Amino acid sequence: MFTMPSKFTRRRFLYANSVAALATQLPVGAAVPANAADITKLAKLGGPKAVQSKPGKWVRWDDAERQQLGAALDQSTLFYWQGRGTNTQTTLFIERFKQYCPSEHVVTCSSGTAALHIAVAAAGIGPGDEVITTPITDIGTVTGILFQQAVPVFADLEPATYNLDPKAVERAITPRTKAIIAVHLAGTPANLGALKALADKHNLVLIEDCAQAWGARYQGKPVGSVGHVACYSLMNSKHIGCGDGGVVASSDPKIGPALLKFSDKGNERTTPGYTWDKTSVLASNYRMSELQAGFASVQLQRLEGIASKRAALGRVLIDGISDLPGVVPPKLEAADRGTFWFFYFRLQPERLRCTRAEFVDALRAEGAACNAGYIPVPVYKLPYFQSHGFFAGRWPIKELGLTQMDYTQVKCTEAEAILSTGIQCPLNEAMDEALMRETGAAIRKVAKHFAV
Ligand SMILES: Cc1ncc(COP(=O)(O)O)c(C=O)c1O
Repeated sequence: MFTMPSKFTRRRFLYANSVAALATQLPVGAAVPANAADITKLAKLGGPKAVQSKPGKWVRWDDAERQQLGAALDQSTLFYWQGRGTNTQTTLFIERFKQYCPSEHVVTCSSGTAALHIAVAAAGIGPGDEVITTPITDIGTVTGILFQQAVPVFADLEPATYNLDPKAVERAITPRTKAIIAVHLAGTPANLGALKALADKHNLVLIEDCAQAWGARYQGKPVGSVGHVACYSLMNSKHIGCGDGGVVASSDPKIGPALLKFSDKGNERTTPGYTWDKTSVLASNYRMSELQAGFASVQLQRLEGIASKRAALGRVLIDGISDLPGVVPPKLEAADRGTFWFFYFRLQPERLRCTRAEFVDALRAEGAACNAGYIPVPVYKLPYFQSHGFFAGRWPIKELGLTQMDYTQVKCTEAEAILSTGIQCPLNEAMDEALMRETGAAIRKVAKHFAV
């Protein structure tokens, strides 16, 4: 005889079956089961909520980090270099990072933004050089380019990975192009094969911005290991973090050895004490302390668990919303692993009888956590891009004629459509497959309700 598990209430049992029934589409004209009317009725209109599960408690650190911080406090210094040697926090972090993403040179730093600035500077990018990148990203991808007095050039994106479209990148290449910064948005690997081929063909540096993609893999390789430089963020909201922090890594024989000095006011740190007499470059102080490195070294040990869980949950949600009218799930190549910093899908407005705001509203009423869009505008539409006023209201390289760039004329059609038609659902390792299936069922229910 079937007995229900104690925590599985009758209501939950009926609900689970209803959701399962809802998830299987009835053929056109098939008899509709008696209870189906209630199930397909939007929660907003008085029907049952599609999402009943709640995420578990999200515990991101515990005694392991506490212990490591204690070990750091027992040291005589918290400075990354004085303390560098055996068993120090920075060394430990670097060793573990190299196991995760094999690289000859690994430098810890204060943020992902710092990592990207260090990468651009170490790649020798300077006034008037062009760097092709995506208009949908955190501004930290771009600030380092501007601080080097170089020119961010925005290329359009693929419609369902939301990453750089290699064909658009190729069209944007000019004799002034020096680098490409590929962002793995929301944890989906960019098309690194095509981008690396372009970089090789045109002698460009490929920098990977992996801030949102810890644990993601491109054809089995960790993101960051295909291009010339990998940049990661350890900011609080990332898959793993230490409050604020970053890592920049490279095995390129020209770029790798230059990373350290661009993180540390130009110091080469070849000998103890001040090495300013040997300083050859202008660089900021982007150092990370031992406390953050110790904390982050423990977080790195959690990474595989976090990444594999997110990857599995994301696949469940993709499967749950495939083949729906008016909804386009994110595209993830079968050979890649996406680690879903968040889950982003798109609407096809012409196939729905509702606005995005109404769709979001209906989804929330179903109990699904979601928000419209990601960043409010593509980066080139930010006010200081539109006015070319990056440095106290001015842009010296434009005034000097080193660039003709006019951001008021830039338009990346697909990127703008991605932002205006997208819906973001949170996804993290405290969630489970039931919540993903129910979120998928909620999206199906709302999409079918509003289908043209
Ligand atoms: C894609 C991307 N690049 C760069 C950054 C900058 O990282 P940080 O905030 O650590 O400076 C972020 C942070 O959100 C990001 O998402």
